[in-house]
This record gives sequence, C-alpha cells and structure tokens, in this order.
Amino acid sequence: MRNVVKKCQQAGQSIGFVPTMGNLHKGHLSLTRESKKDAAVTIVSIFVNPTQFGPSEDFKKYPRTLENDLKMLEEVGADFVFAPDEKEMYPEQTKTLVLIGGDLTNSLEGCSRPGHFNGVALVVIKLFNIVQPDFAYFGQKDAQQARVIYQMIQDLNMPIQMKVMPIVREADGLALSSRNQY
Ligand code: PAF
Repeated sequence: MRNVVKKCQQAGQSIGFVPTMGNLHKGHLSLTRESKKDAAVTIVSIFVNPTQFGPSEDFKKYPRTLENDLKMLEEVGADFVFAPDEKEMYPEQTKTLVLIGGDLTNSLEGCSRPGHFNGVALVVIKLFNIVQPDFAYFGQKDAQQARVIYQMIQDLNMPIQMKVMPIVREADGLALSSRNQY
C-alpha cells in the first residue's frame, strides 16, 4: 500500500479513500463513485476492525464477503483495495489508544456502545496514515461516526477533505446497511 501511495504522490495524483468493513452494498459503491469523480486514484479498504466492537458484540459473526466485495469494486472502477489482516493492522498488542472526549461520544450510540468511537478513531487514523488520502468518504447513515471523524480531522490538523454522502435506501425506505442485510 505504501508503494502504491508513494507512486501516486510522485505522479501528482490525488487519492480518494473509502474505508469500509466490507460486505459492500450500494451505499459503499456510491462513496466509491464519488471518490472517482474527485480524485485521480480511488482506494477502498476492507477491514473488520476489532477495536470498535464491544466484548459482547458481533465481531466474530460480522459478515465477511471479500470475493463478492472485490467483484463489486472492480465493476464500479475502484483502483486499489487494501484488505489487511488483523495481525497486520494490530501486530501484538497495540499500546496506543485514542480517546475522543466530550458530548460527541458521551451521547447517542456512544452510550450504548462504550469505547466504540475510540476504536473507530484508532483504525481510521491508522488507515489515513497508511493511505494518506486527499479526500475521504463516509456515509451519512452513521451520522455520529461522521461527526466524530470530522472533529478528529480538525483537531489533529489532518490535511484531508472529508465528504459525507447521502444515505442510500431500499425501495421501502430502510437504509442500506451490512447489519440490516445479515
Ligand atoms: O463505517 C464503517 O464501516 C467503519 O466504522 C469504518 C469507518 C470503516 C472504521 O472501521
């Protein structure tokens, strides 16, 4: 991934990044299409991040459908997919923690999923450092997550333009979501 990023940067190509946990649906594809409009190169990551799941949550059962995901991304024209395994992302026990404080995380989903947004922030910082994107795309469906990441980008002076894209829905109005799907 670093070699890819370096080559893009040397060629003056902007990078658009769509972080995902896989089990892709039309919502993810709309983020990928948007990235293709803005950036010369579009990178999508697929990684089911253990640090954002609570001990009694569904990490083990979370759907993993890499082959199908890759097909969908090829069809939509993503340039690269970064799909690391757990040991690559978290070799041994990772010691660095990220703590997002205040009302942004002490409310709404933050109350029912303690630590969730800290885990999201940790993996997103790691992915941003690896992919070094100019643009990053998130879905409005995860509104609190989008707000937390926006704050993190501001607070840590990350040179990244974040774009939050509209919810894509089923015909009956339900938001497309990997969890709803499974
Ligand atoms: O929204 C998601 O799928 C995840 O929370 C993210 C942003 C990919 C981090 O693991």
